[in-house]
Amino acid sequence: MIVLKTEKEIELMAENAEILRDILVELALKAVPGTTTAQLERLAARRIREAGARSAFKGYTDELHRVPYPAVLCASLNEEVVHGIPSDERVLREGDVLSLDLGFVRRGYYADAAITVGIGEVSAEAERMMEVGREALRRAIESATMGRRLSDLSHVINLTVREAGYFVVKEYTGHGIGRELHEDPRVLNFGPPGRGPVLRAGMVLCIEPMVKGDDLPLRTKEDGWTAVTRTGSLSVHYEEMVAITPEGPRVLTGWIWEEFCRRKTLSACAAK
Ligand code: MF3
Ligand code: CO
Repeated sequence: MIVLKTEKEIELMAENAEILRDILVELALKAVPGTTTAQLERLAARRIREAGARSAFKGYTDELHRVPYPAVLCASLNEEVVHGIPSDERVLREGDVLSLDLGFVRRGYYADAAITVGIGEVSAEAERMMEVGREALRRAIESATMGRRLSDLSHVINLTVREAGYFVVKEYTGHGIGRELHEDPRVLNFGPPGRGPVLRAGMVLCIEPMVKGDDLPLRTKEDGWTAVTRTGSLSVHYEEMVAITPEGPRVLTGWIWEEFCRRKTLSACAAK
C-alpha cells in the first residue's frame, strides 16, 4: 500500500531531508586520504544525535540479512556496492571511490540518502561511472511527474546506465519512505516503461541507482552485510528523496551532489 503524504508531512520530510543532505555533504568533504570510515561513522552518529534524530540503519534487520546492521553509516569502498560497515581499519586512499549512505528518523519521519565521491584524484573511468550514476538519477527524477507510471523511472535509469556501457544493480532497489524507512512502492533500477502505479501527488520516493561494470549477481561478504561486485568492478550509488507534487518532482534532499560541489572548489567538481 502506498501511503500518500499531506503537504504538511512533506514539509517536515523536507526539513529532515535537508538536515540529512547537510550531514552527508559534511561527511563527503571530510572523506580525504588518511580518514578512516570509522571516523566518518562517529561524526555521522554525532550529527544525527545533535539533530534530535535516531539512526535508521543501526540495528536494522530484514529477511535478507542474518545479523542487525551494526552502524549508523554505510561506507562502501570501490567494489563494495552498498552496506559497507565502517571500520578503523579502512583508511581512505587517493583514488578510492566511496559511497556514503545515511538514514535517520526524526519527528516520526524517515530520511535516507546517498552520495558517491572520489577520494582525492580518481581515475577517468571512476569519474565517468560517477557521472553516469548522477545522470541516471537526474533523468529518473525529471521523469517523476504526476500521471507518469513508476516503471518509467526504472526504465530511464537502466537506459542511461546501459547506454554508457555499465550495468545496474538488480538486488537492491529504491523505495517509498515516510513513517517507515522502506514503504511501498519498490523503485527498481530497470524494467520496461509504462508499468506499475501511476505517480500521484503526495508520494515520496527514494530513487537510488546503483551502477557497476559487470552484470553478475552481487556477493555478500562474511560480515553478513557488505555487498560487493562479483568481478571486483567499481560501483557507485546515488540516492535522493523525491516528492511528487502538482508542481513537479520536488527533490527534498535538494541535489546532494550540487551542494557538495558548491562547498568544495575542486576542478573535478567544476567540470560538472
Ligand atoms: N539506504 C538503504 C536503503 O535504502 C538502507 C541501508 S540498510 C541498513 O535501503 F542496513 F544499512 F540499514
Ligand atoms: Co534507500
